Amino acid sequence: MRVLTLLLYTTTVLAGLQGPVYPAPRDLSSRSSLVAATWKNVTTALEQTFKGGGLGEETAVLLKHTTFSAGMFSLHDRGAQSLQYHHTAASSLNGSVGVKKVDADSIYRIASVSKLFTVYAGMIELDEKDWDRPLTDIFPPFKQFVEKAAKGFDPVHDVQWDKITVGDIAAHIGGLPRGGIPFDGDLLVQAVQSHSIPKRWGLPSLNLTKELARYPCAEYEDMEKCTALQYAQGTAANPPVYAPGTSPIYSNNGFILLGHTLSKLSGKSLDDLYHDTIFKPLGLKDTLSNAPTDPAVLKRSVVAGDPAASFAIKSGITKSSGGLFSTINDLAKVGTSILNSTLLPADKTRRWMKPVSFTSDLRYAAGRPWEIYRHVHPSGVVTDIYTKLGDSGYYTGLLALLPDFGVGFSILGASPHATRSAAVQLVADLIADTVIPALMDQAKNEALDNFAGTYAPKDKRFNTTLTLSVPTSAKSPPGLVVSQWISDGADLTALLPKGLMETSGIRLVPTIQDGAGSGQVAFRAATLNKPGPISGHLFSKLYDVEDWTSTLDMLTYGGLDLAEFVFHVDRKTGKADAVTPSAYRAKLGRRK
Ligand SMILES: *[C@@H]1O[C@H](CO)[C@@H](O)[C@H](O)[C@H]1NC(C)=O
Ligand SMILES: *[C@@H]1O[C@H](CO)[C@@H](O)[C@H](O)[C@H]1NC(C)=O
Ligand SMILES: *[C@@H]1O[C@H](CO)[C@@H](O)[C@H](O)[C@H]1NC(C)=O
Ligand SMILES: *[C@@H]1O[C@H](CO)[C@@H](O)[C@H](O)[C@H]1NC(C)=O
Ligand SMILES: *[C@@H]1O[C@H](CO)[C@@H](O)[C@H](O)[C@H]1NC(C)=O
Repeated sequence: MRVLTLLLYTTTVLAGLQGPVYPAPRDLSSRSSLVAATWKNVTTALEQTFKGGGLGEETAVLLKHTTFSAGMFSLHDRGAQSLQYHHTAASSLNGSVGVKKVDADSIYRIASVSKLFTVYAGMIELDEKDWDRPLTDIFPPFKQFVEKAAKGFDPVHDVQWDKITVGDIAAHIGGLPRGGIPFDGDLLVQAVQSHSIPKRWGLPSLNLTKELARYPCAEYEDMEKCTALQYAQGTAANPPVYAPGTSPIYSNNGFILLGHTLSKLSGKSLDDLYHDTIFKPLGLKDTLSNAPTDPAVLKRSVVAGDPAASFAIKSGITKSSGGLFSTINDLAKVGTSILNSTLLPADKTRRWMKPVSFTSDLRYAAGRPWEIYRHVHPSGVVTDIYTKLGDSGYYTGLLALLPDFGVGFSILGASPHATRSAAVQLVADLIADTVIPALMDQAKNEALDNFAGTYAPKDKRFNTTLTLSVPTSAKSPPGLVVSQWISDGADLTALLPKGLMETSGIRLVPTIQDGAGSGQVAFRAATLNKPGPISGHLFSKLYDVEDWTSTLDMLTYGGLDLAEFVFHVDRKTGKADAVTPSAYRAKLGRRK
């Protein structure tokens, strides 16, 4: 009797469906929004910190030498972009070149946030099947290496270039080394300048001329001369970290190769590719793939240290890994376009925003090239945050997207001081720790306004009522709670064991949201399940917590799930005026 599992279990275990628990909040910026109030708190705390109070001395020391800009954005509230904070640290800026006071149009290097642009451009430009191509299809030096190595093939020392796909390198699971000569500070390369290095590390002394002769790009003073094929020739024989498809290993190397791959498959230079696929369609005026030289643009640029050694470095073939420039206003447009599937079909976006691999920690996963963080609410509900971090030279940046709420935020920071990375991460934590709970509370308040209440049919002859509420405590699992349900005189709530109603037994969560299109939003019941006879163990717990395998869509009537509720909402306001419990085939109007 699956109906019993669906409706009748007593509480204790939070079973959930992956994804949002409420429709995304629509008001982030008005005076009455909890998100705006929380943002104000965060920024007030930061201001006070710089004045010697607020978050305390330790935080002040960490933050004060970093110039940074942070801001929110939302699909449902354009005003969310007014939630910003900017800090200009004179000690972090060049002083004679560049901006004197940062704002949302200040141009920073975005370091490895560039990798997200690279994959985004690829998502737009490539055919689905291109992602499955092996790198030997693209790089003749890899093909030659594989052919040569075939005879005495040795998986510990030979990279299997014919087994690594374009998609693998986009997701950091090609097993490639992180960096490659001459980039990323190889000690042998450094020894050319500083002869004592091998001895200091206790390394054998090598014939530098002979060793470096393997790497065509090591010869160049000007790194811009290094071509991707020369680079590939140098890197072909370097050993792998993992066999292809084993485990994520962050690889700048892979993104240099991905840049050339996109260029080759599209027949465009990377500059043209970024411009044609992203910058132009989104109207990004301040996102650049080369350092600005125009004095008017330089005036808005965040220059830390000597520009020749930091801001204006020419990235050459590392552009696709870390060579782009942007502002938080432009990153808001990019983030919004991803969340709204402006440049991609929606199904492609949804598949893109998924993990490709786990990591050694339950709270983090990796995608293409997403660094995914899993925020756990006090109720046990998980909010996934799809991000890309950049951290190189004097620049640290972050773009973070929360698809469950249709929102995101970005932070760009600059400083020659070593505190820079930790400072930006601290700001990200401040935002995440305060804004995510506020988003949940705001979404709950809006669900109370837009969905809670009593629903009944027009025809008074039917004794049918559905009453929905929202939980009041932060520890209660969020969702629309079914507090009463009578259908044609059958009291479905009376079938529930005592105690279930007080602890919010049946929660409805949105599964298909098309409020702006058809004006319909489908919800399904996620349950709180009674633990099975053996609780707390991995396998025994499956049906208790994983609704996708256990209760969802289990009990149908003529093919329609008893646990599906389709709300009819006003396209503009998001307010429901009726619901159809699908299996019951009746439209119930909303009474307040
Ligand atoms: C803002 O901070 C004050 C004082 O710390 C706190 O009492 C209040 O609840 C906070 N408001 C929000 C919306 O976070
Ligand atoms: C999202 O896309 C829809 C069209 O599909 C458009 O009407 C809407 O304005 C977009 N939202 C934002 C915030 O760009
Ligand atoms: C180092 O290698 C180069 C090139 O193979 C060779 O010409 C040179 O004699 C070597 N130097 C020494 C000190 O062995
Ligand atoms: C500022 O940049 C100039 C080059 O434009 C450089 O000579 C100078 O050393 C830089 N100053 C600082 C403090 O880095
Ligand atoms: C409607 O049904 C409920 C549950 O079976 C019952 O308690 C109630 O008396 C009924 N109301 C009317 C007006 O029949």
